[in-house]
Amino acid sequence: MKWMIPLAFLISCQEAPINRTTANLFDLPPTELGETWSTKNEDQAHKILAQTQEMVQTRAASNGFMQRDAHPKAHGCVKATFSVNNNVLPPELRVGVFAKNKSYDAWIRYSNSDPDGEKKSDFEKDVRGMAVKLMNVEETPVGSQDFLMITAKEFFSKDGDDYLSLFNALKGGSARLALYGITHPLSAKRLLGARIQIAHSLETEYFSSTPYKLGPKSMRFKAKPCEAPSNDEPVKDDPFYLRKRIVEKLKKNEVCYNFFVQPNNEPKVNPIEDPRQGWNEEKSPYLNVATIKILKQEGIDSKAQLNFCENVSMDPWHTHPETRPLGQINRMRALIYQEISRLRHEGNRTMVIEPIDHTPCEGPEKVLCELSRK
Ligand code: HEM
Repeated sequence: MKWMIPLAFLISCQEAPINRTTANLFDLPPTELGETWSTKNEDQAHKILAQTQEMVQTRAASNGFMQRDAHPKAHGCVKATFSVNNNVLPPELRVGVFAKNKSYDAWIRYSNSDPDGEKKSDFEKDVRGMAVKLMNVEETPVGSQDFLMITAKEFFSKDGDDYLSLFNALKGGSARLALYGITHPLSAKRLLGARIQIAHSLETEYFSSTPYKLGPKSMRFKAKPCEAPSNDEPVKDDPFYLRKRIVEKLKKNEVCYNFFVQPNNEPKVNPIEDPRQGWNEEKSPYLNVATIKILKQEGIDSKAQLNFCENVSMDPWHTHPETRPLGQINRMRALIYQEISRLRHEGNRTMVIEPIDHTPCEGPEKVLCELSRK
């Protein structure tokens, strides 16, 4: 089955004892807007974390340094600006970074999600990532507002139970997997559809995939290139063509994206606890609330900037409370991203710090551009 391949990383995850950490998921805000959460979900989050930690540590032995377990292959980190134009939003939805028409300096990290990272060619089908970090944002836990997006409009797991069923099916071999496909047809369909081939990272549309809060409502969001894609094809014989195309394009031109939010106008129809379900776009239209300008630039493939791409931490919970992630899957991410980021920084003997400008390789942040590989 095709969808066994993208999840090969899960196969390596063996059952590990729940190892509780200092992070407390119950420090998160109370559930609202249709969210559900229980001690069972908290246990599930710790179980997924333990499996992920083990996988990161095992892979580090062969990589020479500790990488993300998901989205380890970065095509590049690029300098951008994120300019809000909230006129299209009703006043009650002008919250968080959308409260004011303001421009933020940002970093964007483009990635492939496959845990095998650089061992996999860009030509292979994969889920692709675009993580946007707005810097110096007030009322956020670490000073940044991160928008994590992938090429899948809808996520492939319904909730904690579904995510762990998939883990267990993968451990049980092909018969269990086939059974999972039969008993979870929508999840299997989403999983298959999530992996795509792309010609250019900068010409691709990316989605939040899960719901977030937008003041009194829930929302999804997406980033769409301003221009129609070129006729370029994926390159079979160059495993790193996505990085090369980013570097070439931005040497000569800037690139623009429109950033949209999709406020949920049908909360009774669009469940928060099932991100596999898309929302009707006529009834809940996408609204263009910001423009992302990726600057004309050089140095994307320099060693220092590639190190920066390893060291930077993107996390959906780096957010203003009014635009926080919603739902079980997202609550689990609150524990997992923080702990995996901490683990890989500890393993690489470096510090978790947030960039504050477009020159992180100079001045006090310069540790962000350093990485000792064995
Ligand atoms: C329970 C579900 C999920 C788990 C356990 C998970 C786990 C992870 C982990 C551990 C990382 C690396 C974090 C770090 O070390 O800094 C990561 C990165 C990432 N994840 Fe997830 N993830 C989940 C769901 C999602 C969803 C729904 C999206 C949809 C947008 C997503 C998009 C990304 C992206 C784009 C990155 C790369 C960020 C970067 O460029 O640094 N993940 N994920």
